[in-house]
Amino acid sequence: MIHVNCEHCGATLFEEARFCSHCGRPVALRAEAPLAERLAAAMGSDYAVLGELGRGGFAVVFSVRDHRLNRYLAVKVMRPELFTAPVARERFRREAELVAQLDHPNVLSVTFSGEAAGISYFAMPRVHGETLQRLLGREQALAIATAARVFKGLADGLAYAHERNVVHRDVKPANILVDKGGDPLLLDFGVAKGLSKDGSTLSFTGAVIGTPEYMSPEQASGSREIDRRSDIYSLGVVGFEMLTGTLPFTGGSVMDIAQKKNSSVAPNVRRFREEIPAAFAESIARCLERDPACRWETADQASRAV
Ligand SMILES: Nc1ncnc2c1ncn2[C@@H]1O[C@H](COP(=O)(O)OP(=O)(O)O)[C@@H](O)[C@H]1O
Ligand SMILES: [Mg+2]
Repeated sequence: MIHVNCEHCGATLFEEARFCSHCGRPVALRAEAPLAERLAAAMGSDYAVLGELGRGGFAVVFSVRDHRLNRYLAVKVMRPELFTAPVARERFRREAELVAQLDHPNVLSVTFSGEAAGISYFAMPRVHGETLQRLLGREQALAIATAARVFKGLADGLAYAHERNVVHRDVKPANILVDKGGDPLLLDFGVAKGLSKDGSTLSFTGAVIGTPEYMSPEQASGSREIDRRSDIYSLGVVGFEMLTGTLPFTGGSVMDIAQKKNSSVAPNVRRFREEIPAAFAESIARCLERDPACRWETADQASRAV
């Protein structure tokens, strides 16, 4: 049960209140209520919160039934421990707003968003499929045609976002859903940045944004000049992994991986699997160039080359 009113005197409680400002008694169950229950209270009786679909460092995603429209949604809820941090709330709000402007078959859209009962959430279509991370965990390397379809779809989705001045900055298998038909959907624009804005980034101080293995060398070394070519690099890492079942660079620490990315050339995927078409291998190699100026200029070019 969630108390938006004091259970003792009925006074309205402030969002983060631990004590009632009217009678002074503690707000008992509020903080302990499980997230699914809090989401259910925030969304109201037109929706049923069914179960968890997945979670990342920032949020938990639930399967939700929309009774009125007889459909299923995926609802992303910010982790409640982050809700009190204004920068986190702003980042979450911005993610929803940014994604709401995007409409592309390879980018997961936002249906609506809300903030109530001490939580922030936004709803998306529920995708029937699984993350590329799970798919790779089970199958290691993918069939070449399957990998090509995912690679091209991702590149198309990125090209579309880039044209609208949105850089994703965290392209990796956990942020890619592959639907039943084998098409990819890019999700989690949580660290995305709208380039046309003032250029300020909403990162937690001191935290390296992104995931070391998939990050471009410039992103891993903390450069401020991150543009679409950084996403193109990450796309190359994902393509490399789908085809070979391994990563181009691994290491024991962020610094270690960054150093390797800056000092050595990524191996050719055909050394792992010679039946990979030369054009596909070339497209990936060009994504993985150390110098952003040597990479494909647009994700669209990477897609068309395959
Ligand atoms: N629309 C969706 N349909 C099905 N599963 C989803 C959907 N959105 C997210 N998920 C699952 O939830 C996980 C976390 O979502 P994500 O947006 O990446 O959160 P975070 O910002 O915390 O990383 C994903 O890896 C995926 O497994
Ligand atoms: Mg994620």
